[in-house]
Parts: sequence; C-alpha cells; structure tokens
Amino acid sequence: MDLALIAALARDLDAAGFTVDGLTELWGEDASAALHRGHRVPALRALERSGGAPAAVLARAFVLGMPVDPAALDSALPSLTAAGARSLGLVDAAGAPLLDLRPYSVVDAHGVVSWWIASDLGELALGHAIPEHHVLGVGGASMTLSGLLVDRDVDVALDLGTGCGIQAMHVARHAKRVVATDISERALELAALNAALNGFDNIEFRLGSLFEPVAGERFGHIVSNPPFVITPRATGVPEYEYRDGGMVGDALVATVVAGLEEHLEPGGVAQLLGNWEYRGDSGLDRVRAWVESTGLDAWVVERERQRVEQYAETWIRDGGTRSGAEFDRLYAAWLDDFEERGVREVGFGYLTLRRPLSGPPTLRRFEEYGAPLGGSLGGHIESVLAAHDWLRSASLRDARLTVAPDVTEERHYWPGADDPTMLILRQGSGFARSIPVDTAVAAVVGASDGDLSVEAICFAVADLLGVDGSALRDEVLPELAELVLTGFVRP
Ligand SMILES: C[S@@+](CC[C@H](N)C(=O)[O-])C[C@H]1O[C@@H](n2cnc3c(N)ncnc32)[C@H](O)[C@@H]1O
Repeated sequence: MDLALIAALARDLDAAGFTVDGLTELWGEDASAALHRGHRVPALRALERSGGAPAAVLARAFVLGMPVDPAALDSALPSLTAAGARSLGLVDAAGAPLLDLRPYSVVDAHGVVSWWIASDLGELALGHAIPEHHVLGVGGASMTLSGLLVDRDVDVALDLGTGCGIQAMHVARHAKRVVATDISERALELAALNAALNGFDNIEFRLGSLFEPVAGERFGHIVSNPPFVITPRATGVPEYEYRDGGMVGDALVATVVAGLEEHLEPGGVAQLLGNWEYRGDSGLDRVRAWVESTGLDAWVVERERQRVEQYAETWIRDGGTRSGAEFDRLYAAWLDDFEERGVREVGFGYLTLRRPLSGPPTLRRFEEYGAPLGGSLGGHIESVLAAHDWLRSASLRDARLTVAPDVTEERHYWPGADDPTMLILRQGSGFARSIPVDTAVAAVVGASDGDLSVEAICFAVADLLGVDGSALRDEVLPELAELVLTGFVRP
C-alpha cells in the first residue's frame, strides 16, 4: 500500500469538498434520494449542468461509476494525478472507475465523523448483478450497527468480518488498537485503504474465518455485522461473500455467538446483528437457546420479522437479480431450503452480549422492538447495562429516583371525562420507547425528583388514592424496575 499516494488522495478529496454536504449541494436532495433508490439520472443531469468542478468529476467517476476523461481526473486530483489514481486501483487506463469511493458522514459519541469509503463498484456502475466476491460499502445494516456501538475505552477491540472497515474505524475512535478480520483478502485491502485514507494507524488487518485469526486472544469490545443472510446451499445459488457465511440456515450467527465468550475479557461487550429462523416456535427463543449455552449476559432486540417469501425476494433483489426465469429459479431454491427446516419467518435484530466481571450471567433480556432507531445509541446501551447492574446491587425501594429529562407523559381522555383512560410515558431519546402505565406508576414517576425514596413516594401516592401502601409499592416496583432499566427514571 502506497501511503504517500493515499495521503495525496486524501488531500485532493478534501480540497475538492468531496463531502456528503458537498455532493448534496452539487445535485440536491431529490437526486440524492433517487441515487439511494438506485437511479443516477437526476444526479447525472445535475452534474452536467455544474461544469467541471473537481467534486463533480470525482462524483461522476466514483459515486455514479461513469468514465471520466484522464485530463479531467488530473485536474480534479492535482496531488495524486490520474496516474496515481491508476496505481491505487481507482481507475483503469481509459479513466473508467474500478472502485466506488464516496464520502460518509455521521455523528457518533465523539462528534462528527467525515470519512471517505472505498468499496467495490455496485450494480448501478457495473450494469449487471454484482459478483460473489463483491466488497460492500456502507449499507443500512452497517449504519444500524455503527449507531449502536458503545463508546468504551478499551485496549483492544475486534471487528469480525470488517468488509470495507467501517465498524473497525468507528471502534478505533475509542479503542487503543483494533483487530479487523475478514475471510476476503480483497475486503482487507480495501479496509486498509480506507483506514489509511481516513488517518487511522491503530487498526491491524488479519485474514481468516470467524475467530481463527484471533485464537487465544481476548478483547474488551467485539463488534460484528456478520454475513448473516440465510442462503440455500444449492447448486447455482450465488454465494455472496459479503452476506453469506456459507452455513445452513442461521448457523453462522449461532457460531459467532458461541465463540464470543472465549474472546471477551471479563466485563467485555460484544455487539452484533443477525437473522434467526422461526421454525414453528419463536425465533427469539432460538436465540435464547444460543445464548443460554454461554456464560454471557445478553440483551437481544428483534427489530423485524419477515415471512420467508418476503425474505427471499429481498435478498435475491439485493444480489441484483430482477424478475424473470433466473429470479424464479432462485426463489424456488430459497423456499425449498426454508421448507426443509420448517421455517416460516425470519427475525432480524441486534445482540448485545457481555462477559460478566465474575460469576454467572444475570442479564437475559429478549424483546421485540420495531421502532426505527436514530442517532448514536451507544451511550444508551451502556446506560441500560449500568442500570441492570445497579438494579442487581441496590435496593429500588430505598432509592431516590429522578425522571430522565427526555421523558414526557401523554394522557388520553374520553371526550368530557375527568379521568384519563390511558397514560403513556414517552422517551425522547435512546430507543424512544412508549410505555403505557397505570395511575399509580405515573404518579410515582411524576413525584420522582430525587428528594424522597421510592417507598416514601409509594406510600404518599397510596394515601392519595385511598389504597394500601405496601400493596401499591409491591405492584409498582416491577414496573419501576423496567422504567429504570430502559432509562425513563434514573437512580
Ligand atoms: C455484512 S458484511 C459487513 C461488512 C462491514 N463490517 C459492515 O458493517 O458494513 C460481512 C463481512 O464478513 C465477511 N465474511 C464472510 N464470511 C466470513 C467468515 N467466515 N469469517 C470472517 N468474515 C467473513 C465478508 O467478507 C464481509 O466483508
């Protein structure tokens, strides 16, 4: 890897204003949205009107995947030059792009991230279905996982299945060192290019399957957006490296879960995404069984569930195959595969697992939560883990709680009625949960300003409602524990 050429590229991209905002300025929100849907015509028309500005040349080549004149590339990349771009494998001799390279921007716990990410050319640029060894750029699942990452100061972290390196770079903002692995040599090359391009020198790249490259090593934080897509093991079904771990059904995710304990330091946290099958019974129960054979704390959230037909359609289309005989052949293979195991639905979600500092696991939470997540949620995940530990060690009834500042109460009334028929507590950040509560819980939460203990508030509320204090307290405590865990009230 030629670090001098990569540094020249970074300088040129920076000088060209090749940023997310810069591109939106070039072609507007509607063209951005069309690109997101897989159409480049609006963006191309906007670029044609914008003249030969460096950002426009770079966007045409590396985001839209269209050839550019080497002379135009020379002026858009004055430090690197077109010859340097060829040496880095960005374009061929005629100026046709060989890689996708685009700006990426999010806000994480450390502030604004503004990077460039190289990956393989997508279906739009290729004009046909992507090949099996395709190295994916930053997709929806990548963003979901990166948005969930806890911000832990650890010595060494692991990104298993790093692809273009996106999770490794996020983790490298809080870990002293990151080991990033992949089964694909090409993915590791691109991830190393991305790390260098964005100024990371604390990521080490290792080739190999699953935990093989880190045998005998432990980490404070393990992250993985593994190749979890359930794929029929049948002749003629493409095996996309970026999404398919080569195992039957959901075995790849089960295998990753089984391998975590051995590679987590005490207190270490693992975060991954996954699919799980519904084979008659609940898919979340399948995940529970995977977790229960480990000594790990676990919090698993199922975000969505698809019928197998919908699942097959999604992933056949994702590979770039459109309706027609080939689509139908693949569809049948997917349905045969699901039928063999009696699968009717597939769940998707996030797993947070933690090796206890000592002793057996105490957290086992499996829930369905479908609302879309937004922003950086690592701090929220950390606070849920901390709240769990606090609930285990402290006395809730003696605690003085305060309502979190993002919580509001919503009341619903029948028209003309004096008393509400429904009370809902809403959270403005974190998972933005809404929890229906009864009058007693709402009153206890409402009075939680840190002055009185939970027990004292319960007795005062019972007085007001004319009911027995101990009975009200015993009824309220479990619901209050849930509100502490999910961040509505804080010790
Ligand atoms: C869904 S992609 C995730 C890429 C990236 N981490 C992200 O979040 O966008 C899964 C990655 O796992 C890699 N992979 C596939 N099988 C693997 C295996 N057995 N061991 C390690 N990595 C594997 C693929 O090459 C691919 O880069």
